[in-house]
Amino acid sequence: MAYNLLKGKRGIIFGALDENSIAWKTAERVHEEGGTFVLTNAPIAMRMGSIKQLAEKTNAQIIPADATNLEDLEKLVEESMEILGGKIDFVLHSIGMSINVRKGRAYTDQNYDWTHKGLDVSAMSFHRVMQTLHKKDAMNEWGSIVALTYMAAQRVFPDYNDMADNKAYLESVARSFGYFFGKDRKVRVNTISQSPTPTTAGKGVKGFDAFINYAEKMSPLGNATALECADYTVTLFSDLTKKVTLQNLFHDGGFSNVGVSQEVIEKFE
Ligand code: NAI
Repeated sequence: MAYNLLKGKRGIIFGALDENSIAWKTAERVHEEGGTFVLTNAPIAMRMGSIKQLAEKTNAQIIPADATNLEDLEKLVEESMEILGGKIDFVLHSIGMSINVRKGRAYTDQNYDWTHKGLDVSAMSFHRVMQTLHKKDAMNEWGSIVALTYMAAQRVFPDYNDMADNKAYLESVARSFGYFFGKDRKVRVNTISQSPTPTTAGKGVKGFDAFINYAEKMSPLGNATALECADYTVTLFSDLTKKVTLQNLFHDGGFSNVGVSQEVIEKFE
């Protein structure tokens, strides 16, 4: 069901790779709610994924940009304002990648070049995106910026590896930059801490299938799906959440506040 919550709003959506991507579902929901946007992803993802189909479906243009490359981001922001016909109201940062995870290197045996690259792609990119928007005065007042994160930033999930550290950095950047964006431009910045979700990035984590089932059994409402995450993001982009900022918002069916559930206890009886 659509409510026209984003009618007249313009945005940039990072990270739609294929139809499982959280950013893909978000783009579809934002479109249904009347928002217009530019889709962006790393040039290599353009070749691997199916973003063109999404662009056709949502009447969006695609601008390739590597989120670790400042020049790409400057071009993206400038061209987005031209295409959309004005300043930006909402931005979704939905980007994550760890080479250590991908190549099965343990947390206690990092290849630091890979660690550095993962930090750059998954976390520092968020600072880079916001700094570019801020310097170019590209955000409208009462605009909203959201990045996606995971609870391994607060608690130990051994197989989440260096992504845990990347997410802790990402969440900190949301607070720190959110302060300045709030003061200077009345723009809010939040992170959504999402349930495990079967996407390309999610399934890359070792033991994902067992883990997603465990999380399902631990959460009183069950795991939050990618589509439900998209719905939540729409509310954060809408005018109904104007004073929500500097927050890490758990969207996980209650998982983060449960010590143990009956279903999990029963497995040990
Ligand atoms: P996904 O694999 O569909 O999306 C990750 C995106 O990052 C891809 O579109 C990829 O092309 C993009 N990306 C990688 N390197 C890039 C670069 N240099 N420049 C620009 N884009 C780049 O997976 P998913 O799950 O939709 O991931 C989106 C976000 O949600 C990530 O931040 C992820 O950590 C987060 N998240 C995912 C969860 C899950 O279980 N799937 C749980 C909690 C958070």
